[in-house]
Amino acid sequence: MSKTYFIRTFGCQMNEHDSERMAGLLEVQGYRPASAVEKADVVILNTCAIRENADNRLYGNLGWLKPAKEDRPDMKIVVGGCLAEKDRDLIVEKAPWVDVVFGTRNIEALPQLLRQVEAQGIPVVEFHETLEMFPSALPARRGSKFHAWIAVQYGCNNSCTFCIVPSVRGVEVSRPIEHILEEVSDVAADGVVEVTLLGQNVNSYGRDIYRTPKFAELLRAMDEVSGLRRVRYTSPHPKDFREPVARAMAETSVVCEHLHLPVQSGSSRVLKSMKRSYNRDRYLAKVSMARDLIPGLAITTDIIVGFPGETEEDFLETLSLVEEVGYDSSYMFQYSPRPGTEAAVMDDQVPKDVVQERFERLTAVQEQISHRKNQDSIGSEVEVLVEGPSKKDPGKVTGRTRTNKLVHFAGPAEPGEFRQVRIKQAAPHHLEA
Ligand code: SAH
Ligand code: SF4
Ligand code: F3S
Repeated sequence: MSKTYFIRTFGCQMNEHDSERMAGLLEVQGYRPASAVEKADVVILNTCAIRENADNRLYGNLGWLKPAKEDRPDMKIVVGGCLAEKDRDLIVEKAPWVDVVFGTRNIEALPQLLRQVEAQGIPVVEFHETLEMFPSALPARRGSKFHAWIAVQYGCNNSCTFCIVPSVRGVEVSRPIEHILEEVSDVAADGVVEVTLLGQNVNSYGRDIYRTPKFAELLRAMDEVSGLRRVRYTSPHPKDFREPVARAMAETSVVCEHLHLPVQSGSSRVLKSMKRSYNRDRYLAKVSMARDLIPGLAITTDIIVGFPGETEEDFLETLSLVEEVGYDSSYMFQYSPRPGTEAAVMDDQVPKDVVQERFERLTAVQEQISHRKNQDSIGSEVEVLVEGPSKKDPGKVTGRTRTNKLVHFAGPAEPGEFRQVRIKQAAPHHLEA
């Protein structure tokens, strides 16, 4: 009987895509997916380190796996991902029942590390400081038949003072454009109709290998891929988001009318302390530029509340920016100090109750705006890509518009199908058609 694996993924889309590569590697070795964690021969926790609660989730899961490992000592417990990079040896110190700890830059080593622990019987901890092999060169077991994650760039060269990503993922490395196109063409030939291009700062894509950024060219090339209907990407950094990319979005038919442009704060003073390299006015100018060029553009963002030194005035500037831009939706986070980052040792850490209170005010404002925006779309006809049965109402199916809005409507319709629907009702986070 073949051995089985179970992967639990904690992080962002890149992390999720890394899990698809880990699964692909194991399947080539003859492993099959397990029906439940407790039954798996290999359990992989692919971790995230972006905020403190991500740390807690790993150690919570490990505590929970301990009795399972005592019951079945042959079970192998593997920890990978960004928190593995951050904590490294600490993981086996805290949880000696872990068998393998490895990093984000040596994913290809997984099968060999499993063999090594089998042979030695003691935990193996291994990391690489540089990316020698693109995970995209590895086999993948993709989670969806109609959508694919495509990594275009690994690592990050920025130094946002709140962020742990550069220290756990390393420097920016871009994949050659031909390799990306080949991968996109291959998945499209297999029936994938939508791809999401992934990188921490996609606008600087290509700078390390071509000396100048080539993200606009990459987007334009997507229009030539046969069978492909939708292209999304995440995340652009506002400082590098410029007209050529907005024009490419406007002038290609496959690239969706959705821009996720993480602002982090509406206060120029806070943005400076975050080392984001843009201020409020420059950000707003980029939003206007994008809206002028791309008809029907939806804009979403990431916002951090309670960055060290954030005053009530700074926070009010965030609120007013959110109103001014009128985001379709926002991912809002409470600031979480990350060890080793500049912001973690800044004076004036904002008290938890203040952060909580601001967070609630921001959420309420964004909720209203999202609702209003969604109401504005009532009566319009939109194209949705069907994802599957609705989680709320099994009689319905759920799909997404090109602007990335969730739409529930009466089926039947199969995942991966496109449908034209008319919007009838609007809630803050979804539409009914
Ligand atoms: N590379 C992306 C961001 C990746 S992290 C970009 O620059 O746009 C995703 C989001 O997590 C960030 O945009 C930020 O809003 C949030 N985040 C990162 N570090 C954080 C921290 N220490 N505390 C709270 N939120 C954080
Ligand atoms: Fe982090 Fe900034 Fe890099 Fe994004 S751009 S991953 S927020 S350092
Ligand atoms: Fe992603 Fe979390 Fe790492 S957000 S890059 S998995 S720290």
